[in-house]
This record gives sequence, structure tokens and C-alpha cells, in this order.
Amino acid sequence: MTKSLFLLPGDGIGPEAMAEVRKIIAHMNSAMDAGFVTDEGLVGGCAYDAHGAAISEADMAKAKAADAVLFGAVGGPKWDEVPYDVRPEAGLLRLRKDLELFANLRPAICYPALASASSLKPELVEGLDILIVRELTGGVYFGEPKTITDLGNGQKRAIDTQVYDTYEIERISAVAFELARTRSNRVCSMEKRNVMKSGVLWNQVVTETHKRTYSDVKLEHMLADAGGMQLVRAPKQFDVIVTDNLFGDMLSDVAAMLTGSLGMLPSASLGAPDAMTGKRKALYEPVHGSAPDIAGQGVANPIAMIASFAMCLRYSFNMVAEADRLEKAIANVLEAGIRTGDIMAEGCRQVGTAEMGDAILREFASLS
Ligand code: NAI
Ligand code: MG
Repeated sequence: MTKSLFLLPGDGIGPEAMAEVRKIIAHMNSAMDAGFVTDEGLVGGCAYDAHGAAISEADMAKAKAADAVLFGAVGGPKWDEVPYDVRPEAGLLRLRKDLELFANLRPAICYPALASASSLKPELVEGLDILIVRELTGGVYFGEPKTITDLGNGQKRAIDTQVYDTYEIERISAVAFELARTRSNRVCSMEKRNVMKSGVLWNQVVTETHKRTYSDVKLEHMLADAGGMQLVRAPKQFDVIVTDNLFGDMLSDVAAMLTGSLGMLPSASLGAPDAMTGKRKALYEPVHGSAPDIAGQGVANPIAMIASFAMCLRYSFNMVAEADRLEKAIANVLEAGIRTGDIMAEGCRQVGTAEMGDAILREFASLS
């Protein structure tokens, strides 16, 4: 069976990082008969330059038809002045919205070789492996009304609205419970039911979803502010954390920094399973942006992009052994002291983007 991948490298270091994933895909096709079929499009500033939109309709159609989308990064100073609705980020927002990617998965994994680079004591983060599942298409970022009104007395009033319906909480918690079953079987749900009605409903629906379908998974509830404290006090107590769009935005960034550099962090965004095939729409991307300060120099760390592809293998194609092996290859290369500039440490050997990609591919091939 063919597996279709739509590649959107984007701007800045996006294409540099994507080139390293392309090598891995080519290897998997030739050495393992993996059957990946790739196509490629433009997103972000480069798409704006080519046809005046952050993503073309033709590329949107290809993204929708593909089994998975691999996304690099978008944006840069060159496009700071372009109109709001065609700015580079609009391409990513359009993809998330049109593919209905409501579940954002952000793992925080601490590679042993990098434990000393964390802002926490190495013993607190060594072996850390948590997964934050953030609701991505609802909540206060999208709720209406969303206004700033002039009150006429020298005062203005800003309103954002947090809205969650039962089905939105059900489907995001189902994703969290299902993922927990493939891991340590524990979910911690975070909200603020003490001060927010949406928190009350969130708590209820997660509890009911658990009771109805996932009672084998251990469920815990935590207020989101207390959860933030626990994340930096004793992060290893968590397995899967499920939370709303706003809290998830902040908590996933906090968790990310426990593990070191932006250049290491992958993510996945998943949609609902298709009624006929059971397949979920999915987009995989590094957490970092286009890094204009280092773009074009061949020094960017490709690990976030490669680890995003490992998530793609695991979640879109159920290639769990291959995903494990790719992650193991990353860990081994770091263990061997091979580092890009952003994660460089004493006694290690500094390499560029392509050399890092090659080292990981060599290790991946030798583990196969
Ligand atoms: P950034 O993530 O691009 O860079 C922040 C810092 O981290 C920079 O010093 C950069 O050199 C470094 N860095 C990031 N990724 C790295 C990697 N793989 N290897 C080595 N160093 C790395 O965030 P910044 O500077 O705030 O934004 C730059 C541009 O990217 C902006 O136009 C922004 O809008 C866009 N952006 C796009 C995102 C996306 O495509 N999803 C996400 C975040 C920002
Ligand atoms: Mg954020």
C-alpha cells in the first residue's frame, strides 16, 4: 500500500531541515520498500512570493488528499509588512482549520545525553517522557464575541470568549486516553474548574468519557496552575497531559524548555478519524520557527524535523518499530557527542545540518 506524504518545507531553515527528512524517506523506500510517495508544495512567505497567498488552493487540495503533511517552518523579516490575511502564518492556520486538526501533540522527551542542558537539575529530567495533548481548534483563541469596544469615557473594553462544547472535549480526551494506552496508561487532565464554567464542563466530560470507554486508563485531574507548578517541580510524575487551547499553549512551552533546545522539539496535529477508513488527517512539524538568524548557513539542528517524521511514522502509518528506531538513532548520535551549534557542549564535535542528518541516517540504517 502506498503512503502519501505532502511536504511543505516553507521558509528559512524549513527547507534545510526538510532535506534531511527527505534522505530518510529515500532510504526507507530503497532499503525497506516502505512505499512512501511524496509530493511537495509551497507554504508561507515563499508561497506568498509565488502566488500572493500563504498557500495556494492547489496545495491545500494536495494537503487534504495526503495521508500526512510534513511542515517545515514559515515566516521571516522579509514578509513582516505583508497584509494580515496573507501573512506566512496564515498558511499554517489555514491547514489546521481546513484539515480540522483539533489535537496538538507535544512530547517532552529528555535525551540522557542532554539532561545537563535542562534548566532543571539533571536528575529531575533524565528519562523524562511526557506527552502534552492540547486542544487546538476551540477555546478562547476562537470563541465569539472577540472584540475591543470604545466605552466612550476614555476606557476601552476587550472581550475574549472561552467556548467549549461537549463534543470538542470528548474527542480531545479520547485522543489522550488512546495515546496513554500506548504509553504508561496515565492521563492527567488540567483545567480551572474552580473559576471557569468551561473548566467545570471540561472536568465532567473528561470524567464521563473515561468512565464510558477508557476506565482501564488511570485518570487524574489537576488545576492548570497547580499543574504548571508540578511540571517544573517533578515533571516525571506525568505521562499524558490533556488540556485546552490556552493552557496547553503555555504548559507545552514550559514542558518544552525542560528538555533543552527548540531545535529538538517535534509536534503532531491530528484530526478526527475518517468514518470509512479510520485514518486521521495529520500534520507534523517542528516547534521552532524559520530561524532567519541562521537560515541559509547549513547550521540548523534538523532533529526537531526528523523527530516530527518519527511521530508521523508512529501515528499516521502505525510504523511503531521504525519510529522507535529513528528516535533511538537520534539518542545514539547525541550520545556519541555529535552536536549542532544550538546543543553544543564541551568535549563534543560540532557539525552542520547535513552532517547531523547523515549521522542519524547512518545510525538508523545500522539499527535496521
Ligand atoms: P525561531 O524558532 O525561528 O527561532 C528562535 C531562536 O532559536 C533563534 O535564535 C533560532 O536561531 C533558534 N533556533 C530555532 N530553531 C532552531 C534549530 N532547528 N536549530 C538551531 N537553532 C534554532 O523563532 P523566532 O525567531 O521567534 O521567529 C522567527 C520566524 O519564524 C518569525 O517569522 C516567526 O513568525 C516564525 N515562526 C514560525 C513558526 C512556524 O512556522 N510554526 C513558529 C514560530 C515562529
Ligand atoms: Mg506557544
